[in-house]
Amino acid sequence: MIIDILTLFPEVALAPLSESIMKRAQAAGIVQIRAHQLRDWAVDKHQKTDDTLCGGGPGMLLKPEPLFAAIEALRGPDTLVVLMTPQGKVFRQAVARELSLRPHLLLVCGHYEGVDQRVIDELIDLELSIGDYVLTNGAIAAAVVTDAIVRLLPGALGDERSSVEESFQQENLLEAPAYTKPAEFRGLRVPEVLLSGNHRKIAEWQREQALLRTKKNRPDLLP
Ligand code: ADE
Repeated sequence: MIIDILTLFPEVALAPLSESIMKRAQAAGIVQIRAHQLRDWAVDKHQKTDDTLCGGGPGMLLKPEPLFAAIEALRGPDTLVVLMTPQGKVFRQAVARELSLRPHLLLVCGHYEGVDQRVIDELIDLELSIGDYVLTNGAIAAAVVTDAIVRLLPGALGDERSSVEESFQQENLLEAPAYTKPAEFRGLRVPEVLLSGNHRKIAEWQREQALLRTKKNRPDLLP
């Protein structure tokens, strides 16, 4: 899989993807992640990429010329062109799973007040938001989306089970509480059932706890 990120801040997008599992996935050839400087496609001598809003209003918008040139240069016949924007469809695990099946993503990062609507109308296949809040920089959102997708690619996680058994993968339930050794710490004991070796009982307890946690923290997920 190839993920191209188009941004005014390539270092911001790449920094979180340069360590640990993301680093190993790239070294193993599971994914190729490239960040591109939008300014390289600016057309005027000042390399201007933004301008004021038509009709007035505060802030600046990314201009169409550099974005058209960059997207047309970077996309191919199998590319899904995605715009990172708080106005987009909300990114969830199911969306990550769908996107992980695509051969090539081009993540276009907004900045300032966003991008000229003509870019969206003509070039963008999907507008994606990572949540109901506004970031200063779409490159942060692109790194989040890339991480969530890459960890789903076969071979990216050491233990394949960990992406199958986690939250949101089965039903719409959060994960049950988890414990490691020691069995007692500062008088706080690991629940006995988890030390019992009884796999049926453990599975029952985990489901019960997952339901309780979902009710408490994310009642919106329950029917
Ligand atoms: N750019 C700014 N805020 C964003 C968000 N919540 N999701 C995606 N891109 C963004």
